[in-house]
Amino acid sequence: MGEDIAAVILEPIQGEGGVIIPPDDYFPQVRKICDRNDVLLIVDEVQTGLGRTGKMFGINHSGVKPDIMCLAKPLSGGVMPIGAFISTKEIWQEMIPNPFLHSTTFGGNPLSCAAAIAAINVTLEEKLPEQADEKGAYFIPKLLDLMSKYKNICQEGRGRGLMIGMEFTSNEAGYEVAKGLFDHGVLVAGTLINAKTIRIEPPLVISKAELDTVLEVLNKVFVDVSKKFSTKPNHSKRIDSH
Ligand SMILES: Cc1ncc(COP(=O)(O)O)c(C=O)c1O
Repeated sequence: MGEDIAAVILEPIQGEGGVIIPPDDYFPQVRKICDRNDVLLIVDEVQTGLGRTGKMFGINHSGVKPDIMCLAKPLSGGVMPIGAFISTKEIWQEMIPNPFLHSTTFGGNPLSCAAAIAAINVTLEEKLPEQADEKGAYFIPKLLDLMSKYKNICQEGRGRGLMIGMEFTSNEAGYEVAKGLFDHGVLVAGTLINAKTIRIEPPLVISKAELDTVLEVLNKVFVDVSKKFSTKPNHSKRIDSH
């Protein structure tokens, strides 16, 4: 094993996969296997990076050091398109004799880079990872408590920092909840292929009062959707969110 494998690419928490948080020993084990086989570990921090999960990077929860990290969405605070990969000195050395190993049409775009520098400064100065940690610790237990009261539609809640997922008993239930939340001005996201898990991923600067509003609205919507589904025991119809 290892001879034909250059790298393993993983998200610290799967986003589109439905906010799937790995067990604590998952990344340490992957790191060991990669090291043993001389395979690089690349972590995709596009969703989890820059504070979202309550630490600067999602991988920081595991104590593991990846070889390469990919960043995008929050890198410019979401206002400009930009992506980046970050690596060790050792790996960068490979690029020096041959920089064309990696080329891009819009690389180094000055406006996007200026936005990214400003966003990184705000992330550090306003302690956004710590804010996400604290707000997640406030919100998630309340959300789980609320979900436990509507067992006919709610299957499981989970999250880390402000990367939060609500899993429903069916796509249809998730879709109805998302629709109800939209109607009350709370915007949530499905996952790539369905609405069975709905993601709550607010801006890290959201206030506690706003989080309380989300909980109130969720309660209202759960009451309505739960009633709707109490007469529909078999609600397995597939509804795609995209
Ligand atoms: C975790 C993750 N990685 C990578 C990407 C890739 O983004 P794109 O192909 O739009 O650059 C996305 C997009 O949603 C993502 O969620």
